[in-house]
Amino acid sequence: MSDIHSERILILDFGSQYTQLIARRVREAKVYCEIFPYNAGLEKVKAFRPKGLILSGGPSSVYDAGAPLIGKDHLELGIPVLGICYGMQLLTHILGGQVAKSQKREYGRAELNLHKGEGLFNNVGAAGKATVWMSHGDRIEKMPEGFHSSADTGNSPTAAMADEKRRFYGVQFHPEVVHTPEGTKILRNFVYDICKCTASWTMASFVDFAVGEIRKAVGDKKVICALSGGVDSSVAAVLVNKAVGKQLTSIFVNNGVLRKNEAERVQQMFKDMGLNLKYVDASKQFLDKFKGVEDPEKKRKIIGTTFIEVFEQAANAEGADFLVQGTLYPDVIESVSFKGPSAVIKSHHNVGGLPEKMKLKLVEPLRELFKDEVRAIGRELKMPDEIIDRQPFPGPGLAIRILGEVSEARLAILREADYIVLEEIKKAGLYKEIWQSFAVLLPIKTVGVMGDERTYENVVAIRAVNSQDGMTADWVKLPYELLGIMSNRIINEVKGVNRVCFDISSKPPSTIEWE
Ligand code: XMP
Repeated sequence: MSDIHSERILILDFGSQYTQLIARRVREAKVYCEIFPYNAGLEKVKAFRPKGLILSGGPSSVYDAGAPLIGKDHLELGIPVLGICYGMQLLTHILGGQVAKSQKREYGRAELNLHKGEGLFNNVGAAGKATVWMSHGDRIEKMPEGFHSSADTGNSPTAAMADEKRRFYGVQFHPEVVHTPEGTKILRNFVYDICKCTASWTMASFVDFAVGEIRKAVGDKKVICALSGGVDSSVAAVLVNKAVGKQLTSIFVNNGVLRKNEAERVQQMFKDMGLNLKYVDASKQFLDKFKGVEDPEKKRKIIGTTFIEVFEQAANAEGADFLVQGTLYPDVIESVSFKGPSAVIKSHHNVGGLPEKMKLKLVEPLRELFKDEVRAIGRELKMPDEIIDRQPFPGPGLAIRILGEVSEARLAILREADYIVLEEIKKAGLYKEIWQSFAVLLPIKTVGVMGDERTYENVVAIRAVNSQDGMTADWVKLPYELLGIMSNRIINEVKGVNRVCFDISSKPPSTIEWE
């Protein structure tokens, strides 16, 4: 089997919001790449053995006090370098050119005039022009020696530059974003034509690789996994199952705040895929603890601690040495932030504290992957779309969608209402388009009229949002007809509801969940 990591590109991160996007584009070109913080150090960079280096954009100006800089030695590795936006300015600054500080940002679409359609711009643009996305303040005043301008825009005579001899390239625009339609081609030109990488990072070969690694790590020992039915834990479990089969026990805990039919569906799907599944119905244990609890953070705590108790008990019975976790690459990237004084490291607390407490060794087969790659692996493993395309669902489940106290009676109402919302969203063909769509049960009652009778019943809110990563979100403009159908069905079919409203707030300042 060929080594899927043999072709490697390294991205040094200078704090751009698009850095991960560069990595995803390179990987889509089937070349493995990683992101290091800009100050990782030369030794670490060398040890990675990259065939090419990409310097990301970033919010700083090279002249700022404390601007993120790298030594010239980083450019003396004999490998091609591509500087994007801030990365290009940095290249200029380090190599003796001049960057002009500018008060005004150039932001938005721009038309690029290509000087020569070679190298980075091979087969790019029609009639020497290409649309690109600009977002920069400073610009190149004087290129370093050896460079020539390879493209301009009305505003910047040096929108791209190249020194073919040293194989150094700079672009002032962002090839990684979708608003640069031929950006992917530009990045592919860099990794294939300039860095001479070949396509070796494919999801089929990743599966073979991961299976081999898992077998090596686990040997003949037992493995357990906390299966939630979400994409990450599901793909991780199926991958480990492929590697070590019955040595893996996947534990699925019913915490009492799952959606309608969810426990049955998850069990059925994983049994169909041949997993050794242990189902633990702890719903009563969880629900007993919710009595009298209204505070959202208390609810989260109850879910977290009770889950650990239940899981630990079920896991102990298995006598396992290893625990599978669905950690993804964005959880382990050391991200640089120039808002604070130092780099921040994001930590991941999916199954908070479990491995330390239980003295389990971790198996994290998805640690190198982005979410879209995890989905591709799931497809490779022939997993059902119902799992792969599942909208995110929070760990505390319906407990944080019932405002106020969680009880069996209120759960029954929300489950039915939520089921109708999802059913109608799916019928309208919108399920995959939307990041999250669900119902929320409010802690108030309103007056209504049913037949000749006055009613005094619950209110359900419908929430639908779009988002890239859950950090920000826009409310989705669902068609009125669809909202009408949902409202009619909920009020007619769900006993105890006489009013439905639609949440039209975005994040920030609201959050996706109501609690
Ligand atoms: P918010 O409501 O903070 O949610 O805008 C952002 C994303 O995170 C999910 N979420 C959670 N997921 N445990 C989880 O596992 C939680 O306590 C939790 N709270 C919110 C939410 O569904 C959305 O996708």
